Amino acid sequence: MKRIEKIKILILDDEKQFTEELSGFFNDSEYESFEANTAAEGLKILSSKTIDLLILDVRLPGVNGLDILKDVKLQYPAMEVIIISAHGDMDTVIKAMRLGAFDYLRKPFRFIDIQIAIERTQKYLHMQRKLKQMEERNSLISKTLEQKIDRQFIGVSPAILEVFELAVTAANYPDANVLITGESGTGKENIARIIHYSSSRKDHIFCAVNSSAITDSLLESEFFGHKKGSFTGAINDKMGFFEVCNQGTLFLDEIADMPFNLQAKILRATEEKVITRVGDTNDIQTDFRIVSATNHDIYKRIHDNKFRLDLLHRLNTLHIHIPALRERPEDIRPLLDHFVEKYSSRFNKPNLHVTKEVYDVLYKYEFPGNVRELKNMAERAIILCKGNSLGLADFRVKSDTTKEVHASDEIVDLKKQEIKMVRKALQKCGYNQKEAADILGITRDALIRKMKKYSIVVSKGED
Ligand SMILES: Nc1ncnc2c1ncn2[C@@H]1O[C@H](COP(=O)(O)OP(=O)(O)OP(=O)(O)O)[C@@H](O)[C@H]1O
Ligand SMILES: [Mg+2]
Repeated sequence: MKRIEKIKILILDDEKQFTEELSGFFNDSEYESFEANTAAEGLKILSSKTIDLLILDVRLPGVNGLDILKDVKLQYPAMEVIIISAHGDMDTVIKAMRLGAFDYLRKPFRFIDIQIAIERTQKYLHMQRKLKQMEERNSLISKTLEQKIDRQFIGVSPAILEVFELAVTAANYPDANVLITGESGTGKENIARIIHYSSSRKDHIFCAVNSSAITDSLLESEFFGHKKGSFTGAINDKMGFFEVCNQGTLFLDEIADMPFNLQAKILRATEEKVITRVGDTNDIQTDFRIVSATNHDIYKRIHDNKFRLDLLHRLNTLHIHIPALRERPEDIRPLLDHFVEKYSSRFNKPNLHVTKEVYDVLYKYEFPGNVRELKNMAERAIILCKGNSLGLADFRVKSDTTKEVHASDEIVDLKKQEIKMVRKALQKCGYNQKEAADILGITRDALIRKMKKYSIVVSKGED
């Protein structure tokens, strides 16, 4: 068990013998204690030390102990007070408790009584501290999140400014569904979060769901929830995403991969804003907005009868397309500067200078993995660099994996090239899928899909 922090105790009582005795008892224990025999002495100690617990005799000569209690509770609200009262002084005890004393002890008392009272106070103090830490952390999280959202959308190109404008419009219409399209790594999820946190739904949940990462048999219950006992494994009633997102935003990532049989149910839920849990008959109202994203050509999926046109129409009330980074090269420099600043402060390498050569080469680079690739490149370069300048050698522009495709004038077999690139990347990092995905500038999910598509098998134990 974690040790509870040592607490500081001040004993304020006019009887010197009593304070000495008690203090002697405390000094052998895990507490740190201080003594005072007059109110003035006590107040002096309170102002110079952070006292956690005051043991206060309310019958001090010349002053009203209850007045002291009132004052110290006001001045040191985080400090707890145990009062000591004389026999038959119940009235004072009641008044003291009303003024915020935590506990009382009646004289004469045994050490064990005070020990128990202190332990109780200590537990309470410990909880209070934890609560305060949590509050501080939460406000810190929301603050950093807000700052992140304000600052993380980087770009100067007219195309990206248009994206941003559309995102602002989407934020102002919190009931309109939004479809975001764009290649992998262009910032679709980023924009989805910006929309949510700038909208009136921001105080409710943003729930990101990638349906291609959920097993088919569980999909319906994940989205709609289930009633206890409705199938083996349903040991409790459970809310689905639609319910969890009540008043918030449901972000459906990789929407094009949504299994066909689920699409009709999603359509109904989206239209009616009413759902039924699996195994249940009650209708549940829920108010959510759907922001969905895909990097596939969704019209091709419709043509191939893999995606419902009516669902697409329901989802793309507003459509935001994020162009590939290579189509807006003027964003490369500000993005790179942003990532360099971010990682140089994270890795404690300040004053890094990016050489002109780097900007020149990256400006012409294709970025198949878009902004994510640029971000990973910057992170790696900063980790590896020595000295104050970031040169071309620090940036592993993936000539080995992409040049073959881009530099060749011949007509290449794209599928073969892709298989080759995926294999190469996997081999290069010992079949670690996360690392291979980073090298390719795609997500791990996208890599797994490609591996499935091309039946690239990793032998057991290699991932
Ligand atoms: N304009 C931008 N400004 C700052 N960071 C960005 C920008 N666009 C993308 N990023 C960063 O690039 C990374 C990839 O973005 P994101 O995950 O949103 O891409 P995505 O389009 O959802 O990719 P995928 O299709 O692979 O899921 C994230 O770390 C994101 O913060
Ligand atoms: Mg994404």
